[in-house]
Amino acid sequence: MYRELLELNGKVAVVTGGSRGIGLAVVSALREFGAHVVIADLLDEQGEAAAASFGGGVEYVHLDVTDSRSVEEMFADVASRHGGVDILVTSAGIANHQPSLELERDAWDRVLAVNATGTFWCAREAARHMRDGGGSIVAIGSMSGEIANAPQRQAAYNASKGAVHLAVKSLAIEFAEQGIRVNAVAPGYVGTELTKEGVPEDWWDDWVRRTPIGRLGRPEEIASLVAFLASDAASYMTGSIVLIDGGYAAW
Ligand SMILES: NC(=O)c1ccc[n+]([C@@H]2O[C@H](COP(=O)([O-])OP(=O)(O)OC[C@H]3O[C@@H](n4cnc5c(N)ncnc54)[C@H](O)[C@@H]3O)[C@@H](O)[C@H]2O)c1
Repeated sequence: MYRELLELNGKVAVVTGGSRGIGLAVVSALREFGAHVVIADLLDEQGEAAAASFGGGVEYVHLDVTDSRSVEEMFADVASRHGGVDILVTSAGIANHQPSLELERDAWDRVLAVNATGTFWCAREAARHMRDGGGSIVAIGSMSGEIANAPQRQAAYNASKGAVHLAVKSLAIEFAEQGIRVNAVAPGYVGTELTKEGVPEDWWDDWVRRTPIGRLGRPEEIASLVAFLASDAASYMTGSIVLIDGGYAAW
């Protein structure tokens, strides 16, 4: 019985930011449990190659989550080709590490546009096309949406992820009537391009030191939690923000 609950056969899933990192691991997990997966990302070459590597059951579409018209069109297109949408995972995200007094307005706007507005718009449009009987939306939030991760100089990122978490709780309440569950996972530090780009090398050592488990997380470890939340095994979960951080935020 429990094994069956995890199965996603016949389900259609969209994963934003699925070309690499945590999103790509999520694509892999959802595919392994039987879903047809649509990767929606800006990185066309990597996304096409990733989709092809599965040998079927995964497709790639170009999407900038900050372009709300494109978001609307993409979900309408996927729904018309596949008869609806069952699962959305929003992994598209960017970071910024600048002291607040040096942060340019454009940089603040971009982080909020991708992480917060992009997540909300995708969730909203996915919900419009979810099939009768419900669906599951899983946002990739961050522990930085729960704690003020200030030493990393990321006020915009922290604010964007806090917004994601409260949008998730709000949508969980609004969409419950349609049987749509909305949850977020809130990872700690995971070894991906995002955590390498624009970050001094010694920060990784510092993150490891502050993480009780004593290492960074792996994308697959986040993906297995996402797959659980996407599935009927999590049928009584909605509005939850699930920390998965090796104990970082437990201090
Ligand atoms: N890596 C970590 O330590 C960590 C921790 C907590 C939360 N997260 C969150 O997990 C998610 C995935 O991060 P990751 O570490 O895999 O990073 P990543 O940079 O490897 O992947 C992010 C993906 O999002 C895509 N993307 C960025 N902007 C986009 C846009 N406007 N439209 C469509 N796609 C866009 C990128 O092309 C990329 O494929 C992000 O939301 C990030 O904030 C990451």
